[in-house]
Amino acid sequence: MQGFRIPLLVIGMLGAAAINAAPHDVELNINAGQTGAVINKDIYGQFAEHLGRGIYEGVWVGKDSEIANTNGFRNDVLNALRDIQVPLVRWPGGCFADEYHWREGIGPRNKRPVKVNTHWGGVEETNAFGTHEFFEFVELLGADAYVNGNLGSGSVREMAEWMEYMTSDKNSTLANERRANGRDEPFDIAYFGIGNESWGCGGHMRPQYYVDLYRQYATFLKTPPGKRPKLVGSGGHTDDTEWTDVLSANIDRDMDGISYHFYTLPTSDWQKKGAALGFDESMWLATMERTYRMDEYIRANVAVLDENDPDGELGLYVDEWGTWYDAEPGREPGFLYQQNSLRDAVVTAVNFNIFHEHARRVHMTNIAQMVNVLQAMILTDKEKMVLTPTYHVYGMYKVFQDATAIEFEIQTDNYGEGDKSVPAVTASVAKGKDGKLYLALVNLDPKESASIELNLSGASATQTVGQILTAEKMDAHNSFTQPEVVKPKAFNAKLSNLSLPAKSVVVAELK
Ligand code: AHR
Repeated sequence: MQGFRIPLLVIGMLGAAAINAAPHDVELNINAGQTGAVINKDIYGQFAEHLGRGIYEGVWVGKDSEIANTNGFRNDVLNALRDIQVPLVRWPGGCFADEYHWREGIGPRNKRPVKVNTHWGGVEETNAFGTHEFFEFVELLGADAYVNGNLGSGSVREMAEWMEYMTSDKNSTLANERRANGRDEPFDIAYFGIGNESWGCGGHMRPQYYVDLYRQYATFLKTPPGKRPKLVGSGGHTDDTEWTDVLSANIDRDMDGISYHFYTLPTSDWQKKGAALGFDESMWLATMERTYRMDEYIRANVAVLDENDPDGELGLYVDEWGTWYDAEPGREPGFLYQQNSLRDAVVTAVNFNIFHEHARRVHMTNIAQMVNVLQAMILTDKEKMVLTPTYHVYGMYKVFQDATAIEFEIQTDNYGEGDKSVPAVTASVAKGKDGKLYLALVNLDPKESASIELNLSGASATQTVGQILTAEKMDAHNSFTQPEVVKPKAFNAKLSNLSLPAKSVVVAELK
């Protein structure tokens, strides 16, 4: 597998005020002739839940809105998301999925029941955005659909009928109801999740109980030939591997992958997670250390899969990940709205490099979430919209969608100290679908630069041509009044003189 690293631990007296104090020397050896797994484009998937202003205002404003829209979907958000080539959108939750009853979101909008969104802020849920709106949205984006079914408070019949409604090409009453609601052709579903976080908000189940429910529900999900989505088992989170173990050992048919969730909280404390802005270097380092655990947790889950599924048929789907900070003062806490800074951009790139390294099993991920919620691509305030640093990293990395990973070896020292230390630099190398060789580099250190000695075999190149994302301050961010504080700039360097500024992300072609 590509990307093994040999961290040379930094030894010394490192206080919180003076973590590492020297530029990093990094050696990167790339063998372009040795290819690894394909980096599935679905690793770049997004998550859109009925939560806060994630869908209502963030995506859907309705046809009569003064905000420019296409059939009710705001044009500015559509265009921005098209630019980063969103391959996949997961909907309707999250926790919301296990309270969602699909029949309430079809038919004339003014007749749909208004519910209370009990998970997220207790606000009114009008059901204006339902099945047809979701599929129209992904089709407008040119993305695929990941629908998450309701196992927690639904029934086998309800889930089976939703599947028939969406996919049947027969003259059944349900398929004809779909046609009457404006859609002749069956919808295409790429992935279908059977429950969400069944260990928690999805029903507080034990995995041993869930596997039988999964087997029962999956039995009745019938689709026409060629229309079957990949079926997703609801798995574990953070350092847990039991869910992956029990599911992969006991579900022998009709499961394509197991979901896994891991969030980056600077403090690792759900009661006081840390602020999105105005943090010090110790919080930057704590965030990097926490996010880098993704590597260890994926490894642990992959080891379990390799044992139970040696033929490698099951995927590990990281279908919720990203930063989660304290709610902004003055905002509805249940809306999970947070600002997004250069720190989030670095977190994104670190995770992409990890996902690429595990592309053999990690076939799909969904960042939480797409607009206005948690680590969002886009923030809106009524008619205003701003692109976050995270958005820009998605744009820079789109050359990796469906690229083939290339073997490399990196030797880097660490940033940080003791149990709070991470590799100072992480990387990814791949051959793009266009046949070009691409390199991604992240410098996790917010103060020190890194010089890269790059040794390339199996291809010839003398320079990097691409983009860099960095800024002066650790919490540099874009706002509605200053939307371009953090944005990619050109990055062209000779391979013989390659250096990364502190806290930066680079994606470039090797040519
Ligand atoms: O993304 C926010 C919430 O986090 C999701 O609804 C849930 O699945 C997870 O706990």
